[in-house]
Amino acid sequence: MVAETIDKHIPRTSIRIFCICTVSAGFWKEVALFIANEIASTARLLKKVLEWPIHKFMPVAIKAVILSPRNTSISDKTWNHEYDSGAWDFLSTTKEVGRYSVILGYCLHFKPAARILDVGCGTGILAHWLSSAAISSYLGIDLSAAAIEKARQLNIQGAEFAVADVTAFKTSEVFDVIVFNEILYYLKTPEDHVRRFAQSLAPGGILIVSMWHHADGVNTWKRLRAGFEELDRVRLVHVPSGIKWNVAVLRPR
Ligand SMILES: C[S@@+](CC[C@H](N)C(=O)[O-])C[C@H]1O[C@@H](n2cnc3c(N)ncnc32)[C@H](O)[C@@H]1O
Repeated sequence: MVAETIDKHIPRTSIRIFCICTVSAGFWKEVALFIANEIASTARLLKKVLEWPIHKFMPVAIKAVILSPRNTSISDKTWNHEYDSGAWDFLSTTKEVGRYSVILGYCLHFKPAARILDVGCGTGILAHWLSSAAISSYLGIDLSAAAIEKARQLNIQGAEFAVADVTAFKTSEVFDVIVFNEILYYLKTPEDHVRRFAQSLAPGGILIVSMWHHADGVNTWKRLRAGFEELDRVRLVHVPSGIKWNVAVLRPR
């Protein structure tokens, strides 16, 4: 009786069509997803292939416009792992001497006996360089506990180090010099943070920024120049490797 009623109201062919449609809907969804994935990965590959000659041969300033790269932040875990594995040991090699010595020179020239804040101080290499100068005080902050531990092991007299995230750091202290030495690439809106830190400058205080010369650096310099006056800048070239850095002295407008 029940079977007859079902047969009467829902003819078998409708059920079959319904089943086929449902199965095919799932099937076509899978096919569509597969095609979308293939298109996305082909597009990524194509982008890489197209970017390759740009990366290889184009001047940095043009790359900055065409690729308009974005800064990315890196977690403290990754930094700790990299410092523990020695991935950043190269910062202590001869290749990097140029930029540390320019920063030291700028500190001595513009602000002898300065109170210095080193933002993203890493393992304290700059603190070590500054220890030969008659600075008044030095505070280095960094996201990586591993880096700060190494910095503290240097036992630099008068230098203080603290684990802190630049994006959340607050202080009531004032400084004559605030250094951003190879850190701005890791902040999503670096100019906002530099502006915020600049509020901790003593009257007449300066900012020193060092960045490796590459495409996202070019964009960051542009944004910094909009809010700060550039008192001086050098472009360093480490001739054997061809690596270039810009090191500039800025002050709030
Ligand atoms: C390339 S290293 C440069 C270290 C040091 N300034 C030097 O030149 O020797 C960049 C440093 O920025 C730190 N850093 C990155 N993001 C940070 C954040 N949000 N707050 C504090 N430090 C950060 C890293 O832990 C790392 O030590």
